[in-house]
Amino acid sequence: MSYFPDSPEQPLHAFAFSHLRDGHARLRQKPLVIWLTGISAAGKSTIADALDRTLQAQGRFTSIIDGDSVRGGLCRDLGFTDSDRDENIRRVAEVARLMVEAGLIVIVALISPSSASRHCARSIIGNEYFVEVHVDAPLETAEQRDPKGLYKQARAGLIPHFTGIDSNYDVPVFPEVHVNTQALTVEQSVDAIVDWLARHDDHT
Ligand code: ADX
Repeated sequence: MSYFPDSPEQPLHAFAFSHLRDGHARLRQKPLVIWLTGISAAGKSTIADALDRTLQAQGRFTSIIDGDSVRGGLCRDLGFTDSDRDENIRRVAEVARLMVEAGLIVIVALISPSSASRHCARSIIGNEYFVEVHVDAPLETAEQRDPKGLYKQARAGLIPHFTGIDSNYDVPVFPEVHVNTQALTVEQSVDAIVDWLARHDDHT
């Protein structure tokens, strides 16, 4: 499909924007970003995958942006200092915003440890399109799960700036949704998010 105007008199940018608005209408859904924040091994990626499947089964058009995958590509030049994390989160928020403009429901799974960086993401994307979900597990539980063995390495001093060990995680104060993955199954966590979306039915 071409973005070029039919007639040379029509400005390209005006055509392109109206084309994007048509895209929203065709997808018949309110685009938004479901931003999963939480410490490593809290369950963000697992919930992102299950939520994605549930929304797709409802006929929604979705996309997932996961920290582990963007850090292998879009953000592979970044490490885990506070400023690198801020840049990681800013880039992901900008990409998510483009996806929202294309009409998608975007599921983001990033530790996003500072409340300032989450606030920045919210303002890039727009409050109306931003649903913050705190995927919450106690540090001890995450450390016991330790699926990638990273907490063990961090405790041994092999990974500097590890979230929860020697790098801070600001607990969200007013997330739209809070899921305690120690108490809930993956399905129950997904249900809590889907219920929130249904209760705020301008999102469906
Ligand atoms: S964020 O803080 O910038 O939002 P992001 O979600 O992209 O982090 O990446 C987190 C993933 O990177 C973790 O799941 C883990 O696999 C890996 N990782 C490597 N080093 C660290 C670290 N120092 N702190 C946290 N996670 C790390």
